[in-house]
Amino acid sequence: MRRLSVVSLFVFAMIELSYGTTTNRDAMMTVVTEKLGLTFYTASELTVIAKCCEPQFYKTPNNNTAVLSTAKSCILNNSGNKAVQALSLYSNANNCLSPDSLDSVVTALVPPIQNLTATLVKKIKKTLADCKSTNTQAAAAKQETCIQKTYGIAKAAITLTYVDDTCKKVVNRNVSKGWWACGLKYIPSVLTFSKYACSKIVKA
Ligand SMILES: *[C@@H]1O[C@H](CO)[C@@H](O)[C@H](O)[C@H]1NC(C)=O
Ligand SMILES: *[C@@H]1O[C@H](CO)[C@@H](O)[C@H](O)[C@H]1NC(C)=O
Ligand SMILES: *[C@@H]1O[C@H](CO)[C@@H](O)[C@H](O)[C@H]1NC(C)=O
Ligand SMILES: *[C@@H]1O[C@H](CO)[C@@H](O)[C@H](O)[C@H]1NC(C)=O
Repeated sequence: MRRLSVVSLFVFAMIELSYGTTTNRDAMMTVVTEKLGLTFYTASELTVIAKCCEPQFYKTPNNNTAVLSTAKSCILNNSGNKAVQALSLYSNANNCLSPDSLDSVVTALVPPIQNLTATLVKKIKKTLADCKSTNTQAAAAKQETCIQKTYGIAKAAITLTYVDDTCKKVVNRNVSKGWWACGLKYIPSVLTFSKYACSKIVKA
């Protein structure tokens, strides 16, 4: 018994050492900033926003309305010193897109994006559903474990190529010339868009 716990402690320590204390959530946010080129938020700022969104996603993964509205409120609530910048960007984008708005454009683009990312989203939701039905930890620990598993899937699948391919399809098929002009004007304020072949698309 004693021997066993010494052995498990050792194994546990080795696992801790090899993974450090980096969670899949942390790793995901690093992917978003370093690989995908998001510049508006740092990885640690994104972590705060992500943690704010997680309870809703965990509770109602299939209710897009609820998840998107929580995400929007989490972004606005947790932009801290960037709130002014975020709001001004939001209002500039709205002016540019007028008579449409950023909300209406996002709403219009969600279905085609969902269609293109359906396989990955299904895999993520299945991972979450399986974990919810089998994990026996207490509520808070269970949510954390299950959310971490979903980040594990997401961080492996969401590469620059994956995002770029999705972007190209949506822009070619579902973005109007006017929307695209605004996109090209404002997207570089939040990410290094030049990393993406998608940014080179010219709308006739
Ligand atoms: C989804 O969430 C919205 C907003 O919270 C809520 O009004 C709606 O009833 C929910 N839909 C379903 C099918 O539960
Ligand atoms: C955002 O802040 C408002 C006002 O403090 C609060 O009512 C709301 O619940 C917060 N949203 C989230 C998702 O935490
Ligand atoms: C995506 O759209 C295509 C045609 O536009 C349709 O055939 C296909 O079933 C859709 N896939 C999903 C997963 O919604
Ligand atoms: C997006 O484009 C596809 C392919 O052209 C089309 O089938 C689909 O209806 C469009 N979706 C929206 C919401 O415009």
